[in-house]
Amino acid sequence: MSAYHTAANTVRTTRILSVKTESPTVKTFTVKDKLCAKAEPGQFLMLWIPSVDEIPLSVLNAADGKASVAVKAVGEATQALHSLKNGDIIGVRGPFGNSFTKRHGKILLVAGGTGTAPLLFLAKRLARKAERLTFVTGAKTQSELLFLNELNAVCTEQSAVAATEDGSYGLKCLATEPLERLLTKAKFDMVYTCGPELMVRKVFELTEKRGVPLEASLERLMRCSIGLCGSCVIGKYRVCRDGPVFNAAQLREVKDELGMSKLGFDGSRIPI
Ligand SMILES: Cc1cc2nc3c(=O)[nH]c(=O)nc-3n(C[C@H](O)[C@H](O)[C@H](O)COP(=O)(O)OP(=O)(O)OC[C@H]3O[C@@H](n4cnc5c(N)ncnc54)[C@H](O)[C@@H]3O)c2cc1C
Ligand code: FES
Repeated sequence: MSAYHTAANTVRTTRILSVKTESPTVKTFTVKDKLCAKAEPGQFLMLWIPSVDEIPLSVLNAADGKASVAVKAVGEATQALHSLKNGDIIGVRGPFGNSFTKRHGKILLVAGGTGTAPLLFLAKRLARKAERLTFVTGAKTQSELLFLNELNAVCTEQSAVAATEDGSYGLKCLATEPLERLLTKAKFDMVYTCGPELMVRKVFELTEKRGVPLEASLERLMRCSIGLCGSCVIGKYRVCRDGPVFNAAQLREVKDELGMSKLGFDGSRIPI
């Protein structure tokens, strides 16, 4: 069967079951969908906002016939989605892409912005078996730090390490600063990261320096989400089909583009 004719790639119309405000710019939307309810951490879905656009979003939670996504309002589609309410109709395709591999030793997760969503989903799935689970989360300011209570609940020895750029909560720095200290102090079996690509690149450089295994979830412009249109390429990979989760060996292959450039909507290369 081609990637096109699959159950996952068929648009299902469904209704919004709940909307929760997480921060001044982020809302969590929960929809009823049997297929996306089986998504694994790292996978994404395509949400169709009627008459506006269809956009890729990482799954935040999946269980009991329902799937949730945390969405930051950044442009036309996400702002239109933010104006929708319980009971409104939307379309769903997915779940798409690969997922994080589940390691159970000493685990370190590093998230920035809405990149916290897939890593919280992963942390919840790892929490019971992980030997140690440490979460570093970063945002521009306190009100944009996402899911702090949930993150504190999944960490094993201490609360999550929070960093804000303006110092309004936690450490006044980028999330990569506490990461560097943690990597120097202790040995980790696996680092997982998701967030702004400049942060992902820095996490990659730090873990490479110390030879720590890494998995990173990447974002690129996406249209088809099934490996056909080419809008999500990075190096020899299509992020929608070969990712969005990439390991250190794959990131090494694309390091000339990682945090450097990507394709824009018109196909031209744009700096990140
Ligand atoms: C695999 C994946 C997972 C994602 N998960 C989340 C998530 O969990 N929460 C969240 O808030 N956002 C997530 N995004 C980003 C989200 O898809 C974009 O913010 C959204 O598409 C913007 O649409 P817009 O019309 O509101 O903004 P636009 O006005 O179209 O653009 C605003 C910004 O968003 C970027 N963008 C626009 N369209 C896309 C697209 N189709 N794919 C990727 N980036 C785009 C543009 O580079 C631009 O900088 C994810 C993207 C990918 C690829
Ligand atoms: S979005 Fe079309 S190939 Fe990835």
